[in-house]
Amino acid sequence: MAIQSIHDFQKLKKENRNICFITCYDFTSAHIISKSNIDSILVGDSAAMVQHGYSTTLHATTEMMAAHVAAVRRGAPDYFITADMPFLAHRKGLSETMSAVETLMKSGANAVKIEGGKGQFKIISHIIESGVPVMGHLGLTPQSVHQLGGHKLQGKEKENADQILDDAVSLQEAGVFSLVLEMVPAKLAKNITSILTVPTIGIGAGANTSGQILVWQDLLGMNNEFNPKFLRKYLEGERLIKEALNKYCDDVRKKRFPEKEESY
Ligand code: KIV
Repeated sequence: MAIQSIHDFQKLKKENRNICFITCYDFTSAHIISKSNIDSILVGDSAAMVQHGYSTTLHATTEMMAAHVAAVRRGAPDYFITADMPFLAHRKGLSETMSAVETLMKSGANAVKIEGGKGQFKIISHIIESGVPVMGHLGLTPQSVHQLGGHKLQGKEKENADQILDDAVSLQEAGVFSLVLEMVPAKLAKNITSILTVPTIGIGAGANTSGQILVWQDLLGMNNEFNPKFLRKYLEGERLIKEALNKYCDDVRKKRFPEKEESY
């Protein structure tokens, strides 16, 4: 059975059962997920890239995220859905932050995710004290891509690794129910996972986190040009879909579709 609440996250970590997360952005995909063994869904701001074609996540807005959350909720009514707070949505003062949180929650999210450590603790505590679960996100935080100088591995140097570890502990103290670790050395992710009591969810963070997350399009191999080291493709989506489209075109052009049985 899929995760129902933040307490299930804790329970799975205690039981040492790896959590299986995936991103999702639309009704049809959510409906398929709801029939699978996936534990939980993230409506990531990666939507800006994989759904809207932008080169970074900076183009996601609260309205964009809310529309995706609502569609996913309709497709997976019983799933625990976490929604990304988009770029700067929580950096414009308390009132605007809480309006964005309210919009995402009323669209169907069960929790929000906020990128970054230092500088975010106060607002994260406020959101949690307001009754909204928050997931943290450290390592490669794509909303800071220009500060970081690209979508690249974080925590390679000791100073940076120590900072990520400190931030992880502070995020747990602030009350996050789980923590995404993106593109960090496996050893650092393992260390953080063993120190924290809340589960860690890794992407490009090695095998020793409490769970894994992959982007829907990446897992299904929808883009032959995207091949980072951490990614395992479970389907040759681009090739299979392209072949199906070409077969359909061929049938239409050769007047093989529709046949008598497919006509009224
Ligand atoms: O936006 C996203 O899809 C994410 C995951 C990659 C963790 O933040």
